[in-house]
Amino acid sequence: MTDIKVALVTGAARGIGRAIALRLASSSYHVVVGDLDHAAVLRVQEEIEQGGGKSTAVQLDVTAKDSREATLRLCSEKLGRLDVLVNCAGVLKDVLIERMPLTLFSSLMAVNLIGPLALIGASVDLMRRSGGGAIVNISSRAWLGTFGSTAYSTSKGGLVGASRSLALELGRYGITVNCIAPGFIETEMTAALPEHVRQQIFASIAVRHIGQPDDIARAVAFLAEAPYCTGQVLPVCGGRSIGVPELSVNEELKEHQ
Ligand SMILES: NC(=O)c1ccc[n+]([C@@H]2O[C@H](COP(=O)([O-])OP(=O)(O)OC[C@H]3O[C@@H](n4cnc5c(N)ncnc54)[C@H](O)[C@@H]3O)[C@@H](O)[C@H]2O)c1
Repeated sequence: MTDIKVALVTGAARGIGRAIALRLASSSYHVVVGDLDHAAVLRVQEEIEQGGGKSTAVQLDVTAKDSREATLRLCSEKLGRLDVLVNCAGVLKDVLIERMPLTLFSSLMAVNLIGPLALIGASVDLMRRSGGGAIVNISSRAWLGTFGSTAYSTSKGGLVGASRSLALELGRYGITVNCIAPGFIETEMTAALPEHVRQQIFASIAVRHIGQPDDIARAVAFLAEAPYCTGQVLPVCGGRSIGVPELSVNEELKEHQ
C-alpha cells in the first residue's frame, strides 16, 4: 500500500466538485476525479498536475454499477487504497408536485441518493483495508425544505438520514460519515437563476456575499481529517439556515436593519 492517501471525488469536472478536488490535491491527496464529462475531468486532472499535485481522471456515472466498480478497481489496483470518498455529483430540477413525473423523481434519486449510497457500499471494504477514512456527502440546504423542490430536497434529505445511520454502522471501522449542506454557491447549477431570485437569495445571506465552490471545499478538507466528528450535517450557507438577517419585530431596531 502506498503512503500517499487517495481521495475519490465524484462530479469533479466543474463547480464544487472541481474545487474539492483541487483543495484535497493541495493537501497532498492523490485525487481520483470522476465525472460523466470525461473531457472536462481530464482538464481537472491536468490542472492538478500542473499545480504539482497528483490526480487520475475517470469517466464515472454514479448511477451505473459497472462504472462505479471500474472506478473503485482503479483505486484499489492502481493506487492501492481509498481514504476519502466525496459524493458530490448531483443534479437539480425543480417542479411542483402536481406536475412532477415519477421518472423525474427516479432520475434525481438515482444520481443524488442511490448512486452515492451504492458507491459507499462498494467502497467500505477498500477503505477498511486502507485503515479507515472519511466519507463526505454533499447534501444541500434544500434538505430543510425548499418551495418547488420536493424531489431534490427528498434526495438531499435522504443523504442526511443515510449519513447518520452509516456513521453508526461504519464508525467501528474507523470510517466517519458526514454531510455538508451548502447554501447558494456560484456554479453552473445556479447560473441560470433570474436576477430577481438572486437578489432575494442575496438578501437572505447573513455574511452578505455569495458562496464560492472553495467555501465548500474548505469544509470537506476539514471533515476529511476529523476522526472524532461523524454523523453530522455541516451547513455552509453564509447563515441562511439560521433565518432571515436583520429582520426584527422590535421597532427600536428598525434603524439598524
Ligand atoms: N451550487 C449550489 O448552490 C449547490 C447548493 C447546494 C448543494 N449543491 C450540491 O453540490 C453538488 C455540486 O453542485 P455544483 O453546483 O457544483 O453542480 P454542477 O452542475 O456545476 O456540477 C455537477 C457535476 O456533477 C456531474 N454529474 C451529474 N450527474 C452525474 C453522474 N450520474 N455521474 C457522475 N457525475 C455526474 C456533472 O457532469 C457535473 O460536472 C451537487 O450535489 C449539488 O446538488 C450545490
